[in-house]
Amino acid sequence: MVTDKEFPDRKEKNILFRVLRFDPEKDSAPRTQEYKVPVVTGMTVLEALYYIKEHLDGSLAFRCSCRMGICGSCGMFINNMPRLACHTQVFHLETGTVEIKPLPNYDIIRDLVPDLTPLFEKHNSIKPYIIKEDESLDKEPEEYLQSNEELEEYLQFAYCLKCGLCMSACPTVASDKEFLGPQPLGQAYRYLADNRDCSKDRKLLVDNAHGVWRCHMAGACSEACPKGVDPAMGAQLLKKKIIFGGRKKTAKPAGTQINPERKPNISNAPERTINK
Ligand code: SF4
Ligand code: FES
Repeated sequence: MVTDKEFPDRKEKNILFRVLRFDPEKDSAPRTQEYKVPVVTGMTVLEALYYIKEHLDGSLAFRCSCRMGICGSCGMFINNMPRLACHTQVFHLETGTVEIKPLPNYDIIRDLVPDLTPLFEKHNSIKPYIIKEDESLDKEPEEYLQSNEELEEYLQFAYCLKCGLCMSACPTVASDKEFLGPQPLGQAYRYLADNRDCSKDRKLLVDNAHGVWRCHMAGACSEACPKGVDPAMGAQLLKKKIIFGGRKKTAKPAGTQINPERKPNISNAPERTINK
């Protein structure tokens, strides 16, 4: 137990939480329920929701896992912004009332749990994996070497959590349900910018009526992104790649390089544990 003497800046205050509730099996429309939570310094919105669930109302449904901004499952609309609940301290919102709703632009499964199926379907549609020149799956996996510069071409976009906050912030997703949206567009760029990837049709997957050209660069997606991925920038770079052409495959399998350089003190990969 932390004492005021050990932590003199510790604050405690009762904060009103206005939480959207909706159970499609019982409710005809969403409603708002209020809870008073004794918030202490450092408490996150996710911890406040746990307080509500454990002390005030066990029926409240929300989704979370890691509690540390990694898994991307606790996205919610908190005081009118898509945010990760575990990454948002209540006092940092600087308000006496916290309003929480499920992420917009998704159907509601229950209470604060959105149906992220469209996000994952659209993400899958751009083939979010490295496609080699020889696409046959029975080939032995190979190790490819990349320089720091080659890695930096796409690294920022590889930090995507698939939390879907960007999709709920996007005004075009709100008006065109078929629009791919910022997350898949950012990831399409991530793979096109990777010099190990040889996909021939990924550009075609985003170069259509509901693809990259529907992005009007509102920028709300990048503002909402908790990882600094900047999917709006990814979409613009994708347009550039479509117009001016993409990078050719330049990464070589490690085994084919003469004297491939390896940074010192990097240990070898562990032995394979699965038999083919
Ligand atoms: S781009 Fe950012 S906001 Fe969008 S899914 Fe990835 S991490 Fe989340
Ligand atoms: S619980 Fe994993 S990101 Fe919030």
